[in-house]
Amino acid sequence: MGEIPIIDSRKRAQASTGVAEEPPATKAVFVKTFGCQMNVYDSDRMMEALAREGYGVTDSPGDADLIILNTCHIREKAAEKVYSELGRLKQLKDLRRADGKQTVIAVAGCVAQAEGAEITTRQPAVDLVIGPQSYHRLPSLIGRVSRGESRIVETEFPQEDKFQSLPERAVQRNPSAFLTVQEGCDKFCTFCVVPYTRGIEVSRPVADVEKEARKLVASGVRELTLLGQNVNAYHGQGPDGRSVSLAGLLDRLSAIEGLARLRYTTSHPRDMSEDLIAAHAGNPKLMPFLHLPVQSGSDRILAAMNRKHTAQEYLRLIARIRAARPDIALSSDFIVGFPGETEADFEATLDLVRAVGFAQTFSFKYSARPGTPAATAGDQVPEAIKTERLARLQDLLESQQAAFNAALVGRVVPVLFERKGRHEGQIVGRSPYLQLVHADAAADLIGQIRPVAVRSASQLTLSGVIETA
Ligand code: 5AD
Ligand code: SF4
Repeated sequence: MGEIPIIDSRKRAQASTGVAEEPPATKAVFVKTFGCQMNVYDSDRMMEALAREGYGVTDSPGDADLIILNTCHIREKAAEKVYSELGRLKQLKDLRRADGKQTVIAVAGCVAQAEGAEITTRQPAVDLVIGPQSYHRLPSLIGRVSRGESRIVETEFPQEDKFQSLPERAVQRNPSAFLTVQEGCDKFCTFCVVPYTRGIEVSRPVADVEKEARKLVASGVRELTLLGQNVNAYHGQGPDGRSVSLAGLLDRLSAIEGLARLRYTTSHPRDMSEDLIAAHAGNPKLMPFLHLPVQSGSDRILAAMNRKHTAQEYLRLIARIRAARPDIALSSDFIVGFPGETEADFEATLDLVRAVGFAQTFSFKYSARPGTPAATAGDQVPEAIKTERLARLQDLLESQQAAFNAALVGRVVPVLFERKGRHEGQIVGRSPYLQLVHADAAADLIGQIRPVAVRSASQLTLSGVIETA
């Protein structure tokens, strides 16, 4: 899934607040989230579960009785960040202990799942290691730690359904919310840890998703982004027992009054079914934006990656999607320096990028992940070549993004305003194409969709003026 910058509980605290039935906060939790949007969603749900146990969210780890690192294992750098953070937290824990205060340190997410007990060996200050399928057990596991147990490792895939066991969604302050509908992946791309850390593909039943969506919309959410590691492979059980596709799910969710926008991420090209493409033409709530990772433009590398499609097949798919929805903004993920990648392979990636024209993207140097097939391939690409290729690719991608944004100057786009901007009197929202849009307006427009005449664009944002009727 697409990366997001590291965020901490302060920012999410704006999104997730208490509900009436919660007890008053007597303890404080600090959550730091690394990696993808699914971790952001999981962190929110953990905080909601902990609110019921009397935990309030703090933005200062020094004040926290409980610190959770929700971690990412996708690349080596992401995993290593966790250990350096844990080193700092150990010092903090010692300082608090000297003051007579207990601090529980928990490691959640994909590093927890992948490394388990190794984490407590490398950093004994960690009290609890908890994998993504066990978050509903968090309150009881923390109870065990408070009763004196230490180094608890919970990384099984439990029988009971996490989603059924987590409390209902709390009131949301952000009008745009994530909703996990599918977890895990069966694709086994040879570079990727996800099938090992998140397990096999599982779809939540339609009724569950609908219930959560209705709850979110009733609490003020206007836009939902359906999440899954391979979300377009969604095949949840429908109310009549038959399986429902992602397009079918989007169709049902569109019926929710008050919900204005739907998005989904991340998709695999092989699962871009006919009905989903048709939904981009026929479902007015489905936003014209698609994140469809291609990884490489070289057929040789795509085959070595076990991506199960060629560059031509990807291009033909894009043509069909654009025929259905001509203005769709396309996004993708790229890996440079996969084992065996030659200059010619890399140039094939640049050619594919030129042929498509992307609105925004994520691009990475290949990072060997323990336990994945590509990690032990003999022909690893030297770091310096990866660095040089990434810079060339990013130059091209950035110029495409800037051009995509510049093309909107002079046009009017509907913007869902999400929050206050950095400058006084400014609010920020998103266009249908997922661009950040700034406008000068009162904060009471947050949560509303307004037409904005775009006046200027940069590589990353647009700014404009709200049109009045
Ligand atoms: N090295 C570099 N990038 C990776 N990704 C996944 N695994 C690796 C790896 N081992 C990238 C892919 C994926 C995105 C979420 O992260 O591009 O789509
Ligand atoms: Fe990883 Fe490939 Fe599955 Fe995406 S499709 S999560 S890259 S194995």
